[in-house]
Amino acid sequence: MLDTSKIKLDFPILSRQMNGKGLVYLDNSATSQKPQTVITAITEYYMNHVANVHRGVHTLSDESTHLFENGKTKIAHFFGAKKQELIFVRNTTEAINGVAYGWGEHNLVAGDVILVTVMDHHSNIVVWQELAKRKSAQLIFVGVTDSGTLDLIDLEKKLEQFGEKVKLVALPHVSNALGTVVPVTKVVELVKRANSQTRILVDGAQSAPHIPITFTKIGIDFLAFSGHKMLGPMGIGGLLVREELLKTNEMQPWFFGGGMIAEVHESHTVFHDDINERFVAGTPDVASVVGLAAACEYLENLGMQAVLEHDISLVNYAVQELAKIENVILVGPNFESNSLLNSDIKNPERVGSVSFLYKGVHAHDVAQVLDSQGIAVRSGHHCTMPLHTSQHWIATTRASFQVYNSKEDVDALVLALKKVREVLL
Ligand code: ALA
Repeated sequence: MLDTSKIKLDFPILSRQMNGKGLVYLDNSATSQKPQTVITAITEYYMNHVANVHRGVHTLSDESTHLFENGKTKIAHFFGAKKQELIFVRNTTEAINGVAYGWGEHNLVAGDVILVTVMDHHSNIVVWQELAKRKSAQLIFVGVTDSGTLDLIDLEKKLEQFGEKVKLVALPHVSNALGTVVPVTKVVELVKRANSQTRILVDGAQSAPHIPITFTKIGIDFLAFSGHKMLGPMGIGGLLVREELLKTNEMQPWFFGGGMIAEVHESHTVFHDDINERFVAGTPDVASVVGLAAACEYLENLGMQAVLEHDISLVNYAVQELAKIENVILVGPNFESNSLLNSDIKNPERVGSVSFLYKGVHAHDVAQVLDSQGIAVRSGHHCTMPLHTSQHWIATTRASFQVYNSKEDVDALVLALKKVREVLL
């Protein structure tokens, strides 16, 4: 396990009192807290280096450009991607919209199929519903098994049924509502075997904070992520696009403006040859890039393998302890048996979070009792209404973890959950 007593000191907000108790922050799948190094990097940029990038010959502009480009290099490196494969966006939702507008608009025709999964969160559903409407394409859902994992048999069936019509498979790496890890390597194998031209988008919002990723080796075409869930600032995220799709113009810019151009004439515009520049329309959010690079550095210093192992231990401990509480029904992988999870580091079944139902009590009431004890969790449908509807859950409560969470935080959650019964039942 990571040394959380030391790590907690790096996060100023964690020393806050909440409703008379020490804050126990377990809402990390919604957003994570920020270490002092990230806060300092942003402040330092605003205090000493502000200037527009790639637009001035003065020293400040040089410094700012250098910080931006260095930040981009670091972030791409963190994801095992080439620098030119990284396009900055505000968050995962904007990244997925980018694929819809920059790729889908140019490559989909009427009757084509987009496959998503029942466990996707709304951003990876609504965007495709809208694209499907515009292109008269079909949006088809792959199911989830009774044990909360992706139904690979259903995926194979649908790949076979729709054949070459399947132009895109878009799916989460980790479910935000179940914590389920989707076996991306297996999915890539099945999709490519069915049709090597089918493109694959992985929503990495919930995996980027916990799982080491090497984009160039996974065999996918797009990866979307948010900086704010991985200790970085809000309002910055990334879309990784396989270089070949950028070089061949299969993926095109979807925002237009200055910065991305080589020449502008009244009649037409010539865009930058350099892929690195072609997708930067307007002034980028340099401070957030600097902040996100500092977050990547923080995680790299801990070591992503250690981060993953820490997360798996916490998740397993939470599953084991929550399963003992009367009235708590765990959901997600193994939810039926409530048995211990697969702790295989190479193939974890669940990371990041543990969600549950509380017999006879609405999830919002559970969350309120926990809040009164200083514990922050998320309750509701977690932007996964199709999943909740398919399982007949009105709402669930979710505890989600980060590098600063400890077994003591889980113990505090368990103790507070025992109070739910006293207070509400
Ligand atoms: N998708 C985010 C969550 O799971 C907002 O909370």
